[in-house]
Amino acid sequence: MRRISQSAVVWILLALALSIGAEAQSKCVVKPSRIIRTRPNATSANGTQQLQWYAQGVKAMQQRSTTNPNDPTGWTYQAAMHGTYTTPVKPLWNTCQHGNYFFLSWHRMYLYFFERIVRANSNAGFNLPYWDYDNPTSATDPKLQLPSQFRDTSSSLYVSERNPTMNAGGYLPVGDVGTDYSMKRIPFTCGATNWSSSFGGKLVPAPVHFASGFGALESLPHNAVHDDVGGWMSDPNTAAQDPIFWLHHSNIDRLWDAWVKLDAGRMDPTDPTYTAWLDQKFYFFDEKANQCYLTGRDILKDAAQLGYKYQSITVPVPSTKVNCPGRRLTATLTPQLVAELTQGKISLGPKPMTHQLPVKEIAPEPTPKTRKKAPAAAASHHYVISFDDIDFDKNPGVGYEVYLNLPEGTKPVPTSPYYIGTLHFFGLKHSHQESHESQLQFDATNVVNLLKQRNQWKGQINVTYVPVGPRPPKATAAAQEEHVAGTATIGKVSISQVD
Ligand code: C2O
Repeated sequence: MRRISQSAVVWILLALALSIGAEAQSKCVVKPSRIIRTRPNATSANGTQQLQWYAQGVKAMQQRSTTNPNDPTGWTYQAAMHGTYTTPVKPLWNTCQHGNYFFLSWHRMYLYFFERIVRANSNAGFNLPYWDYDNPTSATDPKLQLPSQFRDTSSSLYVSERNPTMNAGGYLPVGDVGTDYSMKRIPFTCGATNWSSSFGGKLVPAPVHFASGFGALESLPHNAVHDDVGGWMSDPNTAAQDPIFWLHHSNIDRLWDAWVKLDAGRMDPTDPTYTAWLDQKFYFFDEKANQCYLTGRDILKDAAQLGYKYQSITVPVPSTKVNCPGRRLTATLTPQLVAELTQGKISLGPKPMTHQLPVKEIAPEPTPKTRKKAPAAAASHHYVISFDDIDFDKNPGVGYEVYLNLPEGTKPVPTSPYYIGTLHFFGLKHSHQESHESQLQFDATNVVNLLKQRNQWKGQINVTYVPVGPRPPKATAAAQEEHVAGTATIGKVSISQVD
């Protein structure tokens, strides 16, 4: 009798172990209810209700972490799935996808399960609100402030580590939150090369925790807002511990929907070229702490497949369209260096700075003898500016707007024709990390062509960096100096002709 029960126990344990093993391999159940839930704007009436539940849920999840640090539905465990400095590493920690074309799909899944966990820890009616900071009407549009609940020091949504300006009701810089930059990109990806012109990021053969092929939406507003909020938010290894992280990502996920809705050739990676993206499995925990996976094809249509939509996904129609340089997605283009600065590091501080970039002479293209070269030919090339070996001890917490040959006395504003892009640091390597890419690239085609037209593309050109951080709630005169939390350096600056 005793022997039988012992072997029965063994069998039960074995069956249990197998079923847990099988569980880990199973597809997540994402049966949407027939009613499609709405993720509201945080500052709407519904958003206010949701934020009460959210504060409750955050508290309950923090409590879970205290009671049992191994509970995958606890607050710190969930945040560590994004990234953490804590060791030893527990299952599914450090799995976020950055700087590659899995960025949007991974974060959509991450948010979806987090929302279910908060719901289970607060109210069945909970839907994750979004922080609608984009396309403000002025530099002091209230949408640029952290929603007030996150600034209430008595709330579980408050985090003291943030940039003090933001916690005091300061405003995100207008240049960091426009959607024109991302929405004008037509392709989801430009393949393994030339990703700087794509919406969704660089194509990689397999998931990468940190690469530096940032798509347009990941750069702006995503990385920018991380840096501006500062504190935990400015480092992927701590970011998801700040409750605002989830509302920021809700907005990024919403902007993905907004891009799809703009249509006119914009398309998710649904054709067979993208089987790897579509079939890639990513693992998560549901609210019952069951581990399961979803793939890209399971999450493309948030309403139909995951059962949620956003209160509004309307954004301004972008000014122009940007396509990939080169004709074919997979074409390997050999970039030709046209300007390069390699000696000495460039140090970025609290004040604007300018350095000179020597332009290389390239032999003119052979012109067919029979025909005169069309004057428009020069404009058909694409140029990419690359900032390599970026390093910093602590994220500066500001962005650096970059301009080429900004004329003396001209106000540096991102709407100027000399503007290249804004350097942000979230997701880049810093001195505490080894093996980590640390490059930022921007399409420089329009600016280079402008300089050529004006006969300024020769000898030395000026590269100007202007630090821009959050604006204090009661800004006096425009500050000529920004508060920077750390100093960033750049090892190399170059411009290449890519087709
Ligand atoms: Cu995975 Cu906004 O970060």
